[in-house]
Amino acid sequence: MKIESKAAERLKELGAELLPGVSLAERTSLGIGGTTDEILLRRYETIPQVMRLLADQRIPHRFLGGGTNVLIADGELPWVALHLPPARPGIAIEGDIASVDASADLGGMVTFCAKRDLGGMEGLIGVPGTVGGALRMNAGAYGTQIGSHVREVELYRASSGEIEILRGDDIRFDYRHTSFAPDDVMLRVKLELPSKPYREILEGIRICNGKRRSSQPLNQKSAGCIFKNPPGGSAGRMIDELGLKGAREGNAMVSDRHANFFVNAGRASCADMLRLIERVRESVRGAYGVELENEVIVWQN
Ligand code: EPU
Repeated sequence: MKIESKAAERLKELGAELLPGVSLAERTSLGIGGTTDEILLRRYETIPQVMRLLADQRIPHRFLGGGTNVLIADGELPWVALHLPPARPGIAIEGDIASVDASADLGGMVTFCAKRDLGGMEGLIGVPGTVGGALRMNAGAYGTQIGSHVREVELYRASSGEIEILRGDDIRFDYRHTSFAPDDVMLRVKLELPSKPYREILEGIRICNGKRRSSQPLNQKSAGCIFKNPPGGSAGRMIDELGLKGAREGNAMVSDRHANFFVNAGRASCADMLRLIERVRESVRGAYGVELENEVIVWQN
């Protein structure tokens, strides 16, 4: 979708930068996604005005974070992409509290805090993406989930049109799910982290990195796990048991390393990936009577 010049002028006045005709395939870890204009929101405080402008001009939009857990439609997209570009360092530490911009890299944040003897996030080290994306999904790995450490979140609430601050206790964090509204935009988070010597944290990080390297296809284009684990079960194990590793639809393929990772093995399209997702979901339903729910977020037009 293209933004008209008048709206583009006003966006510029609000401190936003417009990038015309961006291929979102270059913004996602799957390497899949169509083309649209992208707006970089460099000033958090003008977000309410930017959102009002988009609403007035009837410009559909979606917020793209690190692009590591999203499957985006092919072709010319009927909405513009909004993005919070990272500012460095984007993290401030006070005692055992880390105040982190949502646009900060999750792994970078874990190591930044580790160097200041703040731990508890070791399991998240290899999870790609931004802190905001991790927060919205309550990202987790190896027994750690980000929600357990949240003290406070600053966000833009579409329902009020304002920037608000929520206390950690007022937010629900469940398995890969939170009580944030779908159109809430994460801006900043305060995390309360346990003090630990750097060397000890580093050891935990090494162990998690090793486990991840031995079980996940880290050097291929993927969005991590495609399905959530069903209660008490493992989507990866079920797909593996059905002999579906290596199964393909076009250039979308079930990883032969971890069956819940679907990889872009060439120039896969969104349609290829969706066909593969449905085929695997059907096989699991047929064999186990289990309906797998997407973990990856799908943005179809
Ligand atoms: N397994 C297989 N075959 C496979 C994959 C897994 O038999 O192809 C078996 C494993 O041997 C193990 C069990 O299934 O006994 C669980 O596998 P794993 O330890 O790899 O964990 P997972 O449940 O598949 C979850 C998260 C990952 C996270 C890891 C580590 C979900 C959907 N996935 O995977 O998160 O990295 O635990 O904590 O919750 C993600 O969310 O994108 C993601 C990758």
